[in-house]
Formats: sequence, structure tokens, C-alpha cells
Amino acid sequence: MNVSVNFCGIDFPNPTVIASGYLGVTGASLANCVRNGAGGVTGKTLFMDPRPGHPNPTILTFPGGLINAVGLCGEGIRKAKHEFEKYRELAPENPIIGSIGGKNLKELVEVAEIMNTYPVDMLELNFSCPNVDDEMGRPIACDPSMTAEATKAIRKVVTKPISVKLSPNVPNIGLIAKTAEAAGADAITAVNTMGPGMLIDPKLRRPILANKVGGVSGQALKPIAVRCVYDVYKAVQIPIIATGGITNGRDALEMILAGGSLLGIGSALLSHDMACFTMIVDKIRDYMKEEGFTDISELVGLAHEI
Ligand SMILES: Cc1cc2nc3c(=O)[nH]c(=O)nc-3n(C[C@H](O)[C@H](O)[C@H](O)COP(=O)(O)O)c2cc1C
Repeated sequence: MNVSVNFCGIDFPNPTVIASGYLGVTGASLANCVRNGAGGVTGKTLFMDPRPGHPNPTILTFPGGLINAVGLCGEGIRKAKHEFEKYRELAPENPIIGSIGGKNLKELVEVAEIMNTYPVDMLELNFSCPNVDDEMGRPIACDPSMTAEATKAIRKVVTKPISVKLSPNVPNIGLIAKTAEAAGADAITAVNTMGPGMLIDPKLRRPILANKVGGVSGQALKPIAVRCVYDVYKAVQIPIIATGGITNGRDALEMILAGGSLLGIGSALLSHDMACFTMIVDKIRDYMKEEGFTDISELVGLAHEI
């Protein structure tokens, strides 16, 4: 049973990849995930300069998942270089995706140029965080022409494969994916968190997050994410990193059948710890054996066949 995936020319030993944001960019903790079964990892989105993010509380759980308003905090791309080098040293066989952001197009292009020189296998363009609108305006991935402009500008300066990370908070994600593909994207990551959402404390009679609103992830996002992956697969020829609420083997299979080649896993890390990678890959193998498939690529997009 072959569960390895060649994605944009890069070999992943299995389809599971840590979604951006969960373990920052610390080389040792990202490498610990592959030691526990992840096929590859994605670093947290980096901007040019350090960012404090939003004030606490920034992450809450609720019965359907998580809501977060971390606000893209981080140390800035220059300081993070040694963490990518450390990861490479500790996990030479498992690909790493460098995620980038920018306050504006000029910064995005500059950060992309720097990330392109780091020891990462591909870049992910975070065009879709739903909890920094007050600072940066509407996410790029909510608008086809902004998606085209930003993807084209980054394509010009980046030699490595790029995946454009899309938002579920749009009426037609297929159209945005098509636009990114036409502008030079090699892959699509679908999706970022949805919302923003809000949770209120009835005793305090106030929103609980200091930022009031945050992006929703985990199981509540899964059916939306499956539909987004399905729509993106229908719209483009480039491969997809399917992300959003994957918690168990069944979720993973749904995402693959909808059209995902790689599986971004985030919130499950918090609810199921590091065991989730092996558990998911074992379940995919069991399914392949039971259903008579020998290579995982045979499953991708099968839900589209009538
Ligand atoms: C605490 C937290 C931080 C996140 N940080 C980032 C980030 O820096 N960049 C990004 O592209 N997505 C970020 N995300 C979104 C995730 O990468 C992922 O797209 C989303 O959570 C859906 O996947 P999940 O349901 O498996 O968590 C973050 C999500 C959470 C919960």
C-alpha cells in the first residue's frame, strides 16, 4: 500500500502535513511532529517584522472545535532563518513549507524573496487570515483581482513551488482558485479558518476573546472545508493541500475523495495530540486494503466520478 505523495515534485512519505500556525516555526518542535508520524510540516506565517499579535485570551475551545484570534504573531522572517536550518538538520527526509504574509503587496513580495532563499521545499501564501481585517483590510483571497495581482507578483520573484492558501469565507472559492492557478500558483491550500466567529460569556455579558472575534477551526469547519476542496478540485488542475477539521481517518478520506492530495492537520493536534498523524495514516492504509486500492493517488478526487 503506497501512501507516499509526490506533490509539486516534492516527495512526502505520507499525506499528513502540520497546518500553518500550530507550532510556530521552531525547528525542534516541527521535527518532533515528523518523528511522531507527520509526512511534512508547515511553519507559522512569517511577516517581515516581529508582530505581537492580539492580546489574550486568543484561543478558546468549544464543543465543535477552536476559535482563535492569535493575530499572526511572530518574530519576523529574518530571525526565523536558523529554525528552518535546524529543522532541515533534524528531519532531512520530510518536506517543510514556509508560510508568508505581508501588511501590503510590497512587504509580501519582499518576504517571499527572503523565504525563497531559506531551506524550505515550497512556499505557502497566507492570503486568508480572517482575524486581522482591522489592521490589513479584507483578506486577499476574498477578492479575485487581489489574488491574481499578489500571486503574479510573488511568482515573478520565487523559484520554488507556491501554494496559495484560500479562505472558506467567499461565495465562489472555485473562481478564486482558478484565478490563483492562472496567475502562476502551483498548488492551492484549502482552507484557512472560517468566520470570523464569536463566543460570549453569559456571566460577563461580553465576547470572551479580547479581539472579540476569531477564526473557527476544527470539526465545525470540516463539512465546509470538504465542500471547498471539492469545488477547488473541480475548478483547477493543480494539486490541493486539503485543510480544515481533519481529526480522524474518516475525515482524511473524505478530503482525499473530494480532491485533496496532501492533508493539512491543525486543531486535531490540540485535541488528539501527536498520535493523530499515525492514526490517520493507518486508517487510510486499512481503507485502501479493504477497498482494493494500492496507491493513494488512485483515491484523489474519486467523489467526483459518477
Ligand atoms: C491557533 C491557530 C493559529 C493559526 N495560525 C495560522 C497561520 O499563522 N497561518 C495560516 O495560514 N493559518 C493559520 N491557522 C489556520 C490553520 O493553518 C488551518 O488552516 C485552520 O486551522 C483549519 O485547519 P484545522 O481545522 O485542522 O485546524 C491557524 C489556526 C489556529 C487555530
